[in-house]
Amino acid sequence: MKIAISGKGGVGKTTIMALLARELRRTGREVLIIDADPSPHMAETLGIRDIERARPIADMTKLLAERAGKTPGSPFYQLNPQVDDLLRDFMIEQDGLKLMVLGAVQTAEGGCACPENHVLRKMLKKLLLTANQAVLLDMEAGVEHLGRGTVAGADQLLIVVIPSRSSIRTALKIRKLAEDVQIPRISFVGNLVRDEEDKTFLRQGLGEEPVAFFPDAAAIRRAERAEKPIIDIEDELDRAPQQLLEAILNGCGESGDV
Ligand SMILES: Nc1ncnc2c1ncn2[C@@H]1O[C@H](COP(=O)(O)OP(=O)(O)OP(=O)(O)O)[C@@H](O)[C@H]1O
Ligand SMILES: [Mg+2]
Repeated sequence: MKIAISGKGGVGKTTIMALLARELRRTGREVLIIDADPSPHMAETLGIRDIERARPIADMTKLLAERAGKTPGSPFYQLNPQVDDLLRDFMIEQDGLKLMVLGAVQTAEGGCACPENHVLRKMLKKLLLTANQAVLLDMEAGVEHLGRGTVAGADQLLIVVIPSRSSIRTALKIRKLAEDVQIPRISFVGNLVRDEEDKTFLRQGLGEEPVAFFPDAAAIRRAERAEKPIIDIEDELDRAPQQLLEAILNGCGESGDV
C-alpha cells in the first residue's frame, strides 16, 4: 500500500503519519516513510536520531542526472533504470522504520522542486510492493503540490481535517484535486477532536464520516514540547491509530483484524 497525507497547515499530518507507521510496524509490516515536506520534521516526530546520515532525495536527482547523462539546462530528466538499487543509500532505518527525506529543495523565490518531485512520483509508481510493505508519504500543507502530481502514484490519500470551517474548506478542495489526479481511495481523518459536537461538525461539513477521529491529546503536546518522539505515546489516543489502520486495511480488501 502507498499512502499519502494532506491537509491544511499544522492540522497534524506528520503526527498522524507517525502514529500510523507505528501501527503498521506492529502488524509486522515493513514501513518506508518518505518525508516530502521541504521543512522536514518526521525524523524528530519518530525519534529517529542521526537523520543527517541519510542523503536527501534531492541528492538523488543529481546522482540520477549524472548517470543518465543529463546535460545542463536540459528540460528532460531520465531515471536510471537501476534506481531501486540506489534507494538504499537514501534511507535511514531505526527500530524497523525506514525513512527517506526529500530535503529542503524549494527556493526562497518559490521555485519548483520539479526534478525531486519527478523522482518521488517515479519512485511511488515503481516501488515494490508486497502485501507486507507500506510506503507512507508525508507532505507539505496545502493544495499546490497536488497539482504537481507527486501523489498520483499513491493508492490512498488521507486528508487530515480539524473541526474548523477553514480546515474543512481546504480538505474539500484537496479532495477535488485528488479526484482529478485519480487517486483510487480518498478518506478524511479527524484530528484535535474533543467531543461529539466536534465530530458532528466534521461529519456535516465534510458530508461524510471520517475514517478515524484523533483526540486532542495533552500527551502529544507534552511530548512535542519536551522534544520527545510522539510515537512513544500510548495513552489518550482513544484507539484512533488502530481505527485508522483498520479502515485502511478494509479498504485494501484485507482483514481489519489487527
Ligand atoms: N491530536 C493531537 N493532540 C494534541 N496535539 C497535536 C495533535 N495532533 C497534532 N498535534 C500538535 O500540533 C502541532 C502540529 O502537528 P503536525 O506537525 O503533525 O502537523 P502538520 O499538519 O504535519 O504540520 P505542517 O503543515 O507544518 O507539516 C504539533 O505541535 C503537534 O504535536
Ligand atoms: Mg508536517
